[in-house]
Amino acid sequence: MELKQLGTTGVQLPEIGLGTWAYSGGVKPLQKGISLGAFLIDTAEIYGTEGIVGEAVKGQRDQVFIATKVSASHLRYDDVLRAAEDSLKRLGTDYIDFYQVHWPNRSVPIRETMRAMEDLVDMGRVKFIGVSNFSARDLQEAQESMVKYRVVSNQVLYSLVNREIEENLLPYCEKNDILVIAYSPLARGGLTTRPLLRRRRAMNVLQEIVKETGKTMAQVSLNWCISRPNVIAIPKSDRVDRVAENCQASGWRLSAEQVEALNEAFQ
Ligand SMILES: NC(=O)c1ccc[n+]([C@@H]2O[C@H](COP(=O)([O-])OP(=O)(O)OC[C@H]3O[C@@H](n4cnc5c(N)ncnc54)[C@H](OP(=O)(O)O)[C@@H]3O)[C@@H](O)[C@H]2O)c1
Repeated sequence: MELKQLGTTGVQLPEIGLGTWAYSGGVKPLQKGISLGAFLIDTAEIYGTEGIVGEAVKGQRDQVFIATKVSASHLRYDDVLRAAEDSLKRLGTDYIDFYQVHWPNRSVPIRETMRAMEDLVDMGRVKFIGVSNFSARDLQEAQESMVKYRVVSNQVLYSLVNREIEENLLPYCEKNDILVIAYSPLARGGLTTRPLLRRRRAMNVLQEIVKETGKTMAQVSLNWCISRPNVIAIPKSDRVDRVAENCQASGWRLSAEQVEALNEAFQ
């Protein structure tokens, strides 16, 4: 598994991690992923999967990087601290590696939320602060409101069929050393199932590259995401075999021509 820098922290994360939204695979797929080097597990207070993540990492807690999220409805100072404590309880651990603001909420001053996030770091409950679904402008405001620490990542929708971030957000994150964590990198299964009619041509290009590389549709789709220097991806699967397959999306690279062909096909 290849690694990428988490911003300027010096921490290295696997370029494929494990998503757990709507996850119901039990501990085995997560443990398989960890054993294959996908030691970043993403969850959130609203997913209902913090408990199973906690179970999966028992006995190897210090080898795993747990990323969880505080919901947009809990962004007032006291609510953030309470949400973090509740997540810690469900995870069965005494620190969160990576605490992310799940969505921006304009009815709460971002300064108040980020002050709570920074205090959680000072209390030793959180190691690093991230955000999710933030625009470049939201990110800038969040960063400017912080006193001591930096926002090290932004978790956003990114896949062959969802490329909106390429225009502004991706360049902004690259320039500011903010790691982009691509969620729904398989378009929730849309890149691994039968093509919709309107995407038939693009899916044919994907299929051609599958043949050329000897990889699967999931692996090519994920490798395309992580071919960006500043992007890692967190596919979710309930199945041990698919987790193994997804982990093997790392350790090789599509050629520049193949990346370009996919860029063009999935405009
Ligand atoms: N921050 C946010 O707002 C936000 C929003 C959405 C998601 N996320 C995070 O991102 C993670 C991933 O996104 P996602 O769950 O929406 O979608 P995804 O990872 O793009 O796709 C998951 C779907 O693909 C299937 N799949 C996985 N690997 C496969 C393979 N190798 N071959 C064929 N099918 C495969 C899974 O089915 P099986 O499970 O049956 O294998 C599941 O139906 C989430 O779990 C969550 O952690 C964050």
